[in-house]
Amino acid sequence: MGTGLGRVVVAGGSGLVGRKLVRALLDRGAQVQVLTRNPATLHVPAGASAHGWEGLPGLLEGVDAVINLAGEGIADRRWSSARKTAIRDSRTRTTARLVEAMRGCGQPPKALVSASAIGYYIPRDTRPVDEGTGPGSGFLAEVCRAWEGEAEAASALGVRVALVRIGVVLDREGGALPKMALPVRWCAGSKLGAGTQGLSWIHIDDLVAMLIEAARNPAWSGAFNGTAPQPLSNEAFMQLIAQRLRRPLLPVPGFLTALATRLLLGEMAEALLLQGAFVLPARSQALGFQFRFPTAKAALEDLL
Ligand SMILES: NC(=O)c1ccc[n+]([C@@H]2O[C@H](COP(=O)([O-])OP(=O)(O)OC[C@H]3O[C@@H](n4cnc5c(N)ncnc54)[C@H](OP(=O)(O)O)[C@@H]3O)[C@@H](O)[C@H]2O)c1
Repeated sequence: MGTGLGRVVVAGGSGLVGRKLVRALLDRGAQVQVLTRNPATLHVPAGASAHGWEGLPGLLEGVDAVINLAGEGIADRRWSSARKTAIRDSRTRTTARLVEAMRGCGQPPKALVSASAIGYYIPRDTRPVDEGTGPGSGFLAEVCRAWEGEAEAASALGVRVALVRIGVVLDREGGALPKMALPVRWCAGSKLGAGTQGLSWIHIDDLVAMLIEAARNPAWSGAFNGTAPQPLSNEAFMQLIAQRLRRPLLPVPGFLTALATRLLLGEMAEALLLQGAFVLPARSQALGFQFRFPTAKAALEDLL
């Protein structure tokens, strides 16, 4: 099935989401160029090509869409102040660099689809939020606002900008799910902290489909939540993993798991695991986007 997309540049196309996105774009007949820090060594699928950032602005000349996923891994290691700077700058500066390059194009890209994250809304109570809800507070919310702000600057160049606030991406091989499922497999899984905090997730195939739709459909402009329509509490999600793996969850008191998580991961524990939000994809649904995996049960049956 084609997308109507011709040439697409994917920044950060070597990552968890990017690799699947590149393959999906190629399968649908697009011509894909991956923007990477390691063009000489990066292995890209047949039909795609790898390019360094110094190839800007020429690389962006007249492309149908730029999909921007680049950024240092948020959960890769503890958040020292140097790490927080790297997390922020690897998003704001790379996005600013893309927009600056678009400014140098005779024919700028038609669309910029730029990743953001549901950290934008966190922390929240248990009331659902959608794209009309204002930002939360703290490091991740600040990073997301600054990151989105850099991307939005492309609008002034006549580029359509779609911001996708991505939830916890569920994939078989990478990201959060294997790490969450591992203790459950060992019969050592439990809810984290209170367990009532929202866990807004998305199956990687639905996210890839959403990014492609955002790139090709002129109606997709502004912010979109890259989450499935049925976010759950942390406890309900862990129970579904346990059911799927036919293991019990340990009835560990919430304060103990919260303490252990904080000791192990520091500040990152709070923002990524102990706080959350119930994030609804109101705008994509209003535009008729269909999720293949609307429920966590269906997603986990596919992935575990
Ligand atoms: N996975 C999730 O659950 C999730 C949730 C919410 C939001 N997101 C966001 O969605 C985007 C894609 O996620 P992902 O899981 O695919 O990320 P990923 O696997 O960490 O890949 C991100 C890519 O960004 C590039 N990158 C890393 N550090 C960089 C730097 N300092 N400067 C420029 N480029 C850099 C890397 O490409 P090269 O090494 O080839 O340069 C890397 O492959 C990220 O921005 C992430 O924050 C992901």
